[in-house]
Amino acid sequence: MAEGKNLVGVDIGSSSIKVCQLKEVRKGHSLAKVAYAPLAPQTVVDGHVMNSGAVVEALSRAFHDHKIKQRDVALSVSGQSVIIRKITVPHMTPQELEEQIQWEAEQHIPFDIKDVHVDYEVLRRRPEAGQMDLLLVAAKKEEINDYANIAREAKLKPLLVDIDAFTVQNSFEAWRGIPQDQIVALINVGASLSSLNVLAGGVSAFTRDIANGGQTITEEIQKQLGAPFEQAELYKTGSNTDDGAVVPKQVVDIVTGACDGIAAEIQRSLDFFLATTGEGELGRIFLTGGSANLPQLVTAIERRSRVPVEVFFPTEKLTVEPRDVDPLLVQARSAQLAVALGLALRKDKEKRA
Ligand SMILES: Nc1ncnc2c1ncn2[C@@H]1O[C@H](COP(=O)(O)OP(=O)(O)OP(=O)(O)O)[C@@H](O)[C@H]1O
Ligand SMILES: [Mg+2]
Repeated sequence: MAEGKNLVGVDIGSSSIKVCQLKEVRKGHSLAKVAYAPLAPQTVVDGHVMNSGAVVEALSRAFHDHKIKQRDVALSVSGQSVIIRKITVPHMTPQELEEQIQWEAEQHIPFDIKDVHVDYEVLRRRPEAGQMDLLLVAAKKEEINDYANIAREAKLKPLLVDIDAFTVQNSFEAWRGIPQDQIVALINVGASLSSLNVLAGGVSAFTRDIANGGQTITEEIQKQLGAPFEQAELYKTGSNTDDGAVVPKQVVDIVTGACDGIAAEIQRSLDFFLATTGEGELGRIFLTGGSANLPQLVTAIERRSRVPVEVFFPTEKLTVEPRDVDPLLVQARSAQLAVALGLALRKDKEKRA
C-alpha cells in the first residue's frame, strides 16, 4: 500500500457533489467524513461544468458544513473529454516508452495531442511476441484545468485528477477484489453518464462512457406526466410526493421503458467489446452509481446481457465514524459514492506516472 496520507475524494457529478474522507484503521478503512450536495439541473452537463460559481459554492459549503479540515483533494473527470484505449506497441524499456508515448498517443487519440494530458499503464509485457499492451488515457487539459480551478476557488488543493471508470475500479478492488478467473464489467450509471469498465484477467480490457443515465428516466417522466423535475425525481425513486399524493401508475411503465433504453445502450457497448477483443465471455456485471438503486435497471441489464447483475454498494464493508458521519446518509447514498471513495483511497505521497 502506498505511503502517505489519504486524500479527500471529491466527485463533481451532474446531479450532485460527493465528498468522502477515509481514515486508516486496524482492519482497513473507516469513513471519517461524507458530504452530499445536490446540484441544480444544468449546473454540470455530461461531465462538463456549465456554472462553475454554483459548484464552487456547493463545494465550499460541503467542506464547511461537514467540518472537513483537510484541503488536499483528489478529483475525477469523465465523459467526452476523456479517451481511454487499450493499445499494443512494440516491446520497449520504460525509458523508451516514456519517449515514445506522445507519438503512440497521437496515432490513437482523435484530439490534438497538444490539448490533452496523456497517461498510460503497462497492462501486459509480451517479450516473446516483441509487444506490450498499454492502457492509454488522454484527458483534455482544458477540462482538467476547469475542475482543478473550481477546487482551488473553493480553497482546496487538488493533488491529482483521475478518471471516473478507474476510480470505481479502485473502490471495487479495495472492497471486493478484482476477479482473476472471470471477465466482469463494472458499470456506474449516474445521472447523465454511464461508465463501463470491463476487466479481464484482473486488468481493464475495455472502457467506455455512455451519455445516458438516470436523468433520461426523470426527463421521460417529466415529459409524459407534465411533472416538474423535483416531482419526477420523487416519482422515480418511489417516494411519496411532498403533498402526500401517491406515485401515478404510469410511472412504473415509464421507468421500465427508460431503463430498457439504457440497458440497450450498455449492451451495444458490451457487444462491441465481445466482438472485437476475443477475450472470452462475460461472467458477471457489477452495477453502481445512483441509478443502480432502480431494480428495473438491474432487471433490464440482466435480461439483455444474460449474465447475473449484482449491485455494488461501495460502503458495504466500511465502518463509519459515528461522531461525524450520518449512517442514514451513507446507507441511502451508498451506490453514489463509488467514485468519491475510489478517490479517497489515493494517497498524497504515492508515486504517479
Ligand atoms: N434511490 C434511487 N432510486 C432511483 N434513482 C436514484 C436513487 N438515488 C439516486 N438516483 C438517481 O441516480 C442519479 C444520480 O446518481 P449519481 O450521483 O451516481 O450521478 P452523478 O455522479 O451526479 O452524475 P454523472 O456521473 O452522470 O455526471 C440521478 O439520476 C438520481 O435520480
Ligand atoms: Mg458520477
